[in-house]
Amino acid sequence: MNVRFFSIAALLASTIVLMAFMIPQEKKKGGPWEVPQEYVSMENPYKDDASLEKYGKQAYMKHCRSCHGNTGEGDGPKARNLEYDPGNLADAAWQDKVSDGELYYMSIIGRDEMPNYESKITDDEERWALINYLRTLKK
Ligand code: HEC
Repeated sequence: MNVRFFSIAALLASTIVLMAFMIPQEKKKGGPWEVPQEYVSMENPYKDDASLEKYGKQAYMKHCRSCHGNTGEGDGPKARNLEYDPGNLADAAWQDKVSDGELYYMSIIGRDEMPNYESKITDDEERWALINYLRTLKK
């Protein structure tokens, strides 16, 4: 045992600690959403109303892009700091499984790290415009 051994050991230990911080941690998956039945079957009164697309896009860019990214793939600038995986809103198979009402619930009510927007997006037309915009992200 000499001073040299200790300094090498210390260097190794600090390198390992540093690397542990640099490796991106696998994000937790939130699992299936439990959406109340009244939301699942909720009718979208603005379905296929293309005139709302710009309105919906504005809302998305203002409130959602920071985490979900420009195209909904979950790569917004704030995404790296999230504990939970925000998912891929553009995923066609997922989009086909969820009703507009379910999308509404997940987007406006939220859960855990997915924020609640009831007080930030109060206009019903804007909420549905946003849901319609989410549909345009599908690919
Ligand atoms: C602070 C980051 C953040 C913002 C901003 C945000 N979300 Fe989310 N979102 C998340 C996270 C994290 C999840 C996953 C939550 C979970 O599974 O518990 C999520 C989940 C979702 C889901 C369900 C996705 C799935 O695969 O199950 C939808 C839909 C959604 N968000 C829509 C929106 C909409 C619309 C907005 C803007 C009004 C928005 N989000 C804003 C972080 C965010």
